[in-house]
Amino acid sequence: MISAEKIPNNVNLSSNKRLQRALEHWQPKYIQWWRDMGPQGFQDYHQVYVRTAISVDPEGWAHFEYVKLPEYRWGIFLADPTPDRRIGFGDFFGQPVWQEVPGEFRNQLRRLIVTQGDTEPASVEQQRWLGQRCPSLYDLRNLFQVNVEEGRHLWAMVYLLHSYFGRDGRDEAEELLERQSGNRDKPRILEAFNEPIDNWLDFFMFTMFTDRDGKSQLMSLSESSLDPLSRTTRFMLTEEAHHMFVGETGIARILERTCELMKEAGFSEDVRKVGGIDIPTIQKHLNQWFSLSLDLHGSEVSSNAASYFANGLKGRAKEDTFDEHVVRNAYYNMEFFEDGKPVTKEILMRNAMNEVLRDWYVGDCAAGVVRWNKVLERHGISDRLRLPDRKFNRHIGMYSGFHFDPNGVPLSKDEFDRRKFEWLPSPADSEYLLSIMAQPIYEPGKFANYIAPPRRGINQLPINFEYVRTEQ
Ligand SMILES: [Fe+2]
Ligand SMILES: [Fe+2]
Repeated sequence: MISAEKIPNNVNLSSNKRLQRALEHWQPKYIQWWRDMGPQGFQDYHQVYVRTAISVDPEGWAHFEYVKLPEYRWGIFLADPTPDRRIGFGDFFGQPVWQEVPGEFRNQLRRLIVTQGDTEPASVEQQRWLGQRCPSLYDLRNLFQVNVEEGRHLWAMVYLLHSYFGRDGRDEAEELLERQSGNRDKPRILEAFNEPIDNWLDFFMFTMFTDRDGKSQLMSLSESSLDPLSRTTRFMLTEEAHHMFVGETGIARILERTCELMKEAGFSEDVRKVGGIDIPTIQKHLNQWFSLSLDLHGSEVSSNAASYFANGLKGRAKEDTFDEHVVRNAYYNMEFFEDGKPVTKEILMRNAMNEVLRDWYVGDCAAGVVRWNKVLERHGISDRLRLPDRKFNRHIGMYSGFHFDPNGVPLSKDEFDRRKFEWLPSPADSEYLLSIMAQPIYEPGKFANYIAPPRRGINQLPINFEYVRTEQ
């Protein structure tokens, strides 16, 4: 039975019998999916100290408790409505926002919601083995916190599908549990969500760069004229911020430890000899996840993006900071690649909306890299991490047929293939990373050799708190 106790919500679930029945039908399938495809080996005998959202106000949001993962209370929360909210961009600028889905945009909206929804369970699937190689109980708990919240994001999208899209929505909600990350026959919709994440360097880079694509997408959806979509994505953004915190501080702590080990081993020595992760390996993983996440923003020139904008379905990140919101006659200077050379052309801004969002994303990533480099600077180490050129390693959009090095210098396919492991993780790199992560650390307060402890614990608890405990 569904109750506010079981499914915390602020959508008055108990008064909507039809929706309740739909969710009651879907919930057992979700739990089965979570058991099969969620964190492996941590379903039945472990309790995790997690944060559960029980309301959108600050107190409800800061509710911490020990739970068994399958018993996490996945809730449905929408940010509070903005009184008299108006459409903020596109052809319907200034009109009241929609509380129901307009028939003419039903397919487009469903597509947007399903595509967002598909990424949420996908990342849980990708990360399901990481618990067996965790660097500490603190990190293990953070992984599970991210996982349960991605599960909640799936609930958020399924709530919209069930509430506003009738039978189609119900079918889509089922399919969200049927596709599987990396599955040959039924893969997840977007490529980055089919890549395996089997070591913690990948995990931290994923939460830094791919969850930040989530932030891009959620920011643009939170501008949507469909008010329930706007409100649900606004609340999801508060959780997304924590995922990026996990990624950014995870890499910062690896860098911290790498610097210490470099000093201990002597700067001319290979830091791998003392069990650390060398800076070039960190850079390669950065290159990998940054370029995959650039792809997630879609083609540079896109009539779909133009139509989403015109129809008021998906805006720009921070739409209210732009001067003009209808954007009918504005142009964007875009770099094309023709006959081996970059050529700048003017294209209609509406057709460039994916690129506009990507610009915002690259800026947000760059700020994170500056913060990482402060760690290296503080230790007096001259190496620096950097974002590769946005043409590097692209599989979607106008650069996808070409090859570039991380500086954006064009290369032949042969040359790229010959040199790609200078810039992207090689099988030997992955093997090395797995070798130093082979023994999970489950002792409170202890950390794997390749990563420094965090500055502080969760919810003001000490770092050596037992964040995940085994049931007696
Ligand atoms: Fe998410
Ligand atoms: Fe996320």
